[in-house]
Amino acid sequence: MYGERVLDHFLNPRNAGIIPDADGVGQVGDPRCGDYLRIFIKVKDNRIEDIKFQVFGCPAAIATSSMLTEMAKGKTLEEALAITDEDVAGALGGLPDFKLHCSNLGATALHKAVKDYLRRKGDGG
Ligand code: FES
Repeated sequence: MYGERVLDHFLNPRNAGIIPDADGVGQVGDPRCGDYLRIFIKVKDNRIEDIKFQVFGCPAAIATSSMLTEMAKGKTLEEALAITDEDVAGALGGLPDFKLHCSNLGATALHKAVKDYLRRKGDGG
């Protein structure tokens, strides 16, 4: 059911954990299954210097969260805001149709974390 890249990220998640002194935090839940994802970011010189995730979710949610953090690390805030759910699912080589909704948590949580950072900084967002 799952492709090789999905299984790899599920079995060896990258950047799992929390950042206690994060500059921005974004959280999103999926009302259909009750799963939720939290993204923590550290920002330096307008770039995502560090990123971690905490997820209570299924294998697809874990794999997409892991892939998302790899894609976002080192990116500018503008580039991070441009990452879409489709980008993440595509980078994983696709997901089964009925698991596509699981990949909808990642980009939203990342965007919320960036906006949280901008709000804390006083730049709106
Ligand atoms: Fe809830 Fe996958 S079943 S995120």
